[in-house]
Amino acid sequence: MVSVEERIRQLKKEKNAVILAHNYTSPEIQDLADLVGDSLGLSIEAARTAADVIVFCGVSFMGETAKILSPDKTVLVPEPDAHCAMAAMCTGEQIKEFRSLQPDSIVVGYVNSTAESKKEMDICCTSSNVVKVVRSVGDREVLLVPDMNLGAYAASETGMDIILWRGFCPVHNCITAAQVRGLKQEHPGAFVMAHPECRAEVLELADHIGSTESMLKMSISSEKKEFIVLTEVGMRYRLEKENPGKTFHFLEHAVCTAMKMASPGSVLDSLESGKGEIVLSEDVLDGARGPVEKMIGLS
Ligand code: 13P
Ligand code: SF4
Repeated sequence: MVSVEERIRQLKKEKNAVILAHNYTSPEIQDLADLVGDSLGLSIEAARTAADVIVFCGVSFMGETAKILSPDKTVLVPEPDAHCAMAAMCTGEQIKEFRSLQPDSIVVGYVNSTAESKKEMDICCTSSNVVKVVRSVGDREVLLVPDMNLGAYAASETGMDIILWRGFCPVHNCITAAQVRGLKQEHPGAFVMAHPECRAEVLELADHIGSTESMLKMSISSEKKEFIVLTEVGMRYRLEKENPGKTFHFLEHAVCTAMKMASPGSVLDSLESGKGEIVLSEDVLDGARGPVEKMIGLS
C-alpha cells in the first residue's frame, strides 16, 4: 500500500504543487515541506514559485497572503479553520474608522491580519522587517495594527512615536518576565532569543530579538551551546535539527494550537479534493496587493 507521504509526493508532481510550512508547524509537516520558514521568507517564496498549486501549512492569513501575491495560483490551507488569534483583533472596518478620524496617519499592518484588513493598510510588515518598514514612512504619524507588543518594539528601536492598537498574540503575550528570569536561573549563561510579539519587559531580558528565521540564523552563527527561546515551541524542531550538539529551552506553555492543526492526512486530503482553497474577492485582492507588495519591495 502507498503511504500518505508517498501519495503526497505523487500528487505534488501531478499537480505541480509546492508545500510551504511555517516554523511552528509539527515535525511531520516540516519534514514534508519544500520550504520551512518565517512569514517573510514564505511570502517571498509564494510570490516567486513556479508551482501552480501552493499548499500552505500554517494559519489562514499566510495562505491569504500567498493568494494576494499569486492570484492566478491555487492556494490551499489544509486546515481552513486554522486561524491566528491575533489576526481577528483588528478588522478592516476599524482601520477605516481610525482613518476617518486621523486621515494624515500611515497605517502599518502586521502581516498577521486578514486580507480584508490588509486592504485598508498603507503598508504591511512582518516581525523581520517591522523596523525597516516603520522607518520607511518618514516623519508621518504611524498607527501599527494589530500587535501592541510588536508596535512597542518598533517604537523603541526607531525612537518614533507609534500609536499602538491593543491586539496581541495570546501565545507570546503569556510569556512573563518572571518566567524568563526563572529559566535564566535554571540555565545560567544561556543565550536568550525572543520574538518581538513578546511583552517589552520580556524583550528587555533577551540577547537577540527577531523573527523565527532570525533566531535560527543566530543559533547557527553563535558560539553558544545553550539557548533560551522565547517563542512558540514548534521552533524547537528546526533549531535542534540544524544545530546538533546545542540545547534549546522553551516555555512549554507557549503553544499555538492553530499552527499544529495541519497533518500529513489533511495535506493529502487538501491535495486530492481541493479542500481549504483560499478564495478572495477581486476587490480584496486588488486592495491588499499594494500594502503587501510594498513590504516585499522593501525586503
Ligand atoms: P515569524 O514571521 O517570525 O515567523 O512569526 C510569525 C508568527 O506568527 C509569530 O507568532
Ligand atoms: Fe498568531 Fe500567535 Fe499563533 Fe503566531 S503564535 S500564528 S501570532 S496566535
